[in-house]
Amino acid sequence: MNVPLLDLQAQYAALRDELQQAVERVMSSQRFVLGDEVRGLESSIAEYCQTKHAIGCASGSDALLLALMALDIKAGDEVITTPFSFFATGACIARLGARPVFVDVDPLTYNLDPSRVADAITPRTKVIMPVHIYGQCAQMDPLLRHGIPVVEDAAQAIGATDNGRRAGSMGAIGCFSFYPTKNLGGAGDGGILTASDDEVAARLRRLRTHGGSNEYEHEEVGINSRLDELQAAVLNVKLPRLDPWSDERARKAEIYTKLLNDADLRFPLTTPHVRPDGRHIFHQYVIRVPGNRDALMEHLKTHSIGSKVYYPIPLHLQKCFEYLGYKKGDFPQAEAAANETFALPCYPELTEEQQVYVIDTIKSFQ
Ligand SMILES: Cc1ncc(COP(=O)(O)O)c(C=O)c1O
Repeated sequence: MNVPLLDLQAQYAALRDELQQAVERVMSSQRFVLGDEVRGLESSIAEYCQTKHAIGCASGSDALLLALMALDIKAGDEVITTPFSFFATGACIARLGARPVFVDVDPLTYNLDPSRVADAITPRTKVIMPVHIYGQCAQMDPLLRHGIPVVEDAAQAIGATDNGRRAGSMGAIGCFSFYPTKNLGGAGDGGILTASDDEVAARLRRLRTHGGSNEYEHEEVGINSRLDELQAAVLNVKLPRLDPWSDERARKAEIYTKLLNDADLRFPLTTPHVRPDGRHIFHQYVIRVPGNRDALMEHLKTHSIGSKVYYPIPLHLQKCFEYLGYKKGDFPQAEAAANETFALPCYPELTEEQQVYVIDTIKSFQ
């Protein structure tokens, strides 16, 4: 049996006709940038995320950058975030000349540990930027309590909740990615920002079109980061399926966890921790295997099972961030997670036979 880490072909097969019609609609219109498809998607996403506004942009990475630009982040400012994330989380801060201030993660959820944030706040702290890693929200209330603007990196967490509130609706701005492998994935790069403040939303709209509210007048310097009509058309087809897909991912995750808990393994393995007060959309199903991670992944590979480490090098140990002065050992939880965790295949189309095969293969690992 072959179990890829993700099978986008299976999703495409089910949506082929609708997607082709959507693409044809855009091609026939010959309107490719910021048209009806984008406007329709923006209004559907705002409703879905329980926010007043949603603003499409070219990627999740640009969403993070635009969010910080809209909050006037500049050289000398500090932004508190997690070292255990995709590179863009730290990069958007550094690109504006500001300083990423990393705070270690909670060893159970791998999200920013809220109990450590207060110690990292200085008079220069302008934003706190949690990442809702793997599709589970960071604990937002203790982060919001500091009275510092919060930007949610919700790239992996569309539809996740924290105490009934949707990812992207709790902070000042939410940032999402439509990278093809996300729970809601486009046919290329794409992203969106959510906000409920009218002025913040208007500024984000300006910033994504070179800082101008019309074509030839520019109030400030922005960037060119627009969502295109083809992406929006594809996403408009997929959005109504997002909740059933994410529920199906969560169901697969429950099956894995039950099978693993019943497996009587000869080595320590920890299944994902699911917070009782939220909805986890299982963008990734990540297990922890101290000491045996790489060997187990190799064993899975020899049995044609895909797996992947998210993320092998914490941001504070990236070469480009050497100038920040961090060293190995500064964030022991993030470093341990980088050495001990990896993701198993978990997507709506995964079959129960495939899941049983994955777990049987793990059981056969010595
Ligand atoms: C946590 C996180 N932040 C930001 C991004 C950046 O999104 P994109 O790849 O759309 O630029 C990603 C996507 O991989 C992500 O997982």
